[in-house]
Amino acid sequence: MTASISGTARVAGVAGSPIAHSLSPMIHNAWLNAAGLDGAYVPFAPSPAGFEAFIQGLRGGVITGLNITLPFKEAALALADAPTPAAQAAGAANLLLFAQDGTIIADNTDGIGLLAAFGEQAPGFDPTTAPVVILGAGGAARGAAAAFLAAGAPQVRVLNRTLARAESLAEALGSRVSPLPLSDAARALDGAGAVINATSAGLSDTGGFEVPLEATGADCVVMDMVYKPLVTPFLATAQALDRRTVDGLAMLIGQARPAFAAFFGQPPPAGVDVRALALKSLGQNERT
Ligand code: ATR
Repeated sequence: MTASISGTARVAGVAGSPIAHSLSPMIHNAWLNAAGLDGAYVPFAPSPAGFEAFIQGLRGGVITGLNITLPFKEAALALADAPTPAAQAAGAANLLLFAQDGTIIADNTDGIGLLAAFGEQAPGFDPTTAPVVILGAGGAARGAAAAFLAAGAPQVRVLNRTLARAESLAEALGSRVSPLPLSDAARALDGAGAVINATSAGLSDTGGFEVPLEATGADCVVMDMVYKPLVTPFLATAQALDRRTVDGLAMLIGQARPAFAAFFGQPPPAGVDVRALALKSLGQNERT
């Protein structure tokens, strides 16, 4: 992939299970190549039972760091010695850094990626002016809720099929979070500045998961963390209603930027269209 790997190359990677479909190696290596850096970014698929031993073996800076993806994000946070406030608030790490002294630092750049995606695709969106609705109460939803709270959202309404999970998320994140059942969606969407699908239901069209997006105001921004397909049924419904939409691919690239800087000591180079590369590898076209 890169012609510039020497014996002193900086090596980083991504760990998940499964990992074969991760776009992160393609994104980071495109940036490495364009910047002419002596480095590599490689995929790792430890078994769930072997994840802890794998991470412990990396203490001391064998590699500079790892992105962490499903199903290891919570376990990664638990293994780290020094979590950042972002990782603590999200209850999960998408980034581990291996310091020379053996310390493992856990961070989470998903929130930065989420807000960057809004900045890019819904310019002028202000998270401080109206409540934000988050669909789902798993790890992805908690990270999104934490990011919007940190960005100053006056209220985060967490809607989940299983209300108890939304309630425990609210308990973890404080009084600006309101847990609600999915049956309250129309009421929750009324007056919302943004609504984000953080459930895994969008992964298939057969989720049987209906959200009354017509209850949103004309200015409400609709986001789906799922990026395959790029325009999910949820985003297609929003577009049919003329709502501005934000896609999950913008978030994926947005979380990768600060990770690259942490691994390789400089921000990704400008002028590389990693979105086009990612779309090509997904077999998708840019939305029109
Ligand atoms: P992650 O950590 O990636 O967020 P997760 O913890 O498995 O994944 O959470 C998946 C989320 O999608 C949950 O909020 C789940 O709702 P429940 O807590 O009620 O299980 C939600 N979800 C998945 N499939 C769904 C469906 N068909 N309809 C509604 N919600 C769904």
